[in-house]
Amino acid sequence: MRAVFFKGNNHPLEIRDIKKPKPVKDQVLVKMKYAALNHRDLWIMSEQTNAGDGIILGSDGTGIIESGGEDVDPMLYGMEVIINPSLNWGNNPVVHGDSFKILGYPDNGTFSDYLLISKKYIFEKPEHLSFSEAAAVPLSALTAYRALFSKARLRPGEKVLITGIGGSAALWTMQFAVHYKANVFITSGKQEKLERAKQLGATDGFNYKDPNWTEAARKAAGGFDIIIDTAGGPDFSKLFELAMPGGRIVNFGRTAGNVGEINLRNFYSKQLSLFGTTMGTRDEFLSMLDFIEGRNIKPIIDSEFTLENIQQAIDHMKQEQQFGKIILKIA
Ligand SMILES: NC(=O)c1ccc[n+]([C@@H]2O[C@H](COP(=O)([O-])OP(=O)(O)OC[C@H]3O[C@@H](n4cnc5c(N)ncnc54)[C@H](OP(=O)(O)O)[C@@H]3O)[C@@H](O)[C@H]2O)c1
Repeated sequence: MRAVFFKGNNHPLEIRDIKKPKPVKDQVLVKMKYAALNHRDLWIMSEQTNAGDGIILGSDGTGIIESGGEDVDPMLYGMEVIINPSLNWGNNPVVHGDSFKILGYPDNGTFSDYLLISKKYIFEKPEHLSFSEAAAVPLSALTAYRALFSKARLRPGEKVLITGIGGSAALWTMQFAVHYKANVFITSGKQEKLERAKQLGATDGFNYKDPNWTEAARKAAGGFDIIIDTAGGPDFSKLFELAMPGGRIVNFGRTAGNVGEINLRNFYSKQLSLFGTTMGTRDEFLSMLDFIEGRNIKPIIDSEFTLENIQQAIDHMKQEQQFGKIILKIA
């Protein structure tokens, strides 16, 4: 079987032919159909110096169960599945425990013809989604769902600002918020992405490359009840000015780097809440799937590459050309 191996940040990705693994105990062997990229793959490729003989990358994927270990009911063979990449969350819904991991590093991930994984992380593929559409769901939709509903506790009608809308996690956040009848505003570094997001239901958008974007945002919206940020960077402190009194700011990314100075007076006098979040629990994964299925929501897919063209897909993400998910066709 083919698999995409990462050995360390100074090594090119390698596509190797390796032996098909054999499931034991509660493991299932999933014949992968599609996988999808996340910014996490870029972080791993730039920040991890030594992955030994190599780790198979990839957190998102869909496929068909081919076989299972002795604790797997053969009734599951042939099931069309989506994979939850949030591994070993633990018992506390507020925060994951010490053994929490994300599929695709340090454990072997989905950029492969086959994936070996515990049946705990396997869910039936939503019926209204094709295999390629379903591959766009797991990591970013789970994180967006927890950020918007479990952390910020969105209420219909609230004004929500989402930064960097071209990213897949930001787009899932926008789709969930629009379906929940929020009044959604977005930022992007590209005018055409702002326009596309408006066609999908955003009220207005602002180009974060314009030094006056926060003034434009304040003029358009007055202020925001909720801000969901995946970028951080020097603009992060401005979010505290844009938040309404009693507002909630949630961050789960650092695409633009660490943050500068924060005006604490603004923070406490407006009685703001600041949340960090990462991935989500099994219950949140189920609720997220239910939300998507119940409202017939389809992901925004930017492009599709083959497994052999993984490097082109990675380069496409690095250039920030995408609007939505970058998909990998495996079979
Ligand atoms: N903690 C978690 O569990 C978790 C889960 C998912 C994602 N994340 C993090 O969230 C971030 C986005 O992930 P992703 O997979 O959705 O990435 P992605 O698809 O690669 O999108 C990245 C987007 O970041 C935006 N961006 C770049 N510079 C920006 C800036 N200065 N201000 C605002 N936006 C900026 C760009 O949006 P435009 O093209 O519109 O300008 C770009 O398209 C990453 O940092 C990722 O690690 C974390």
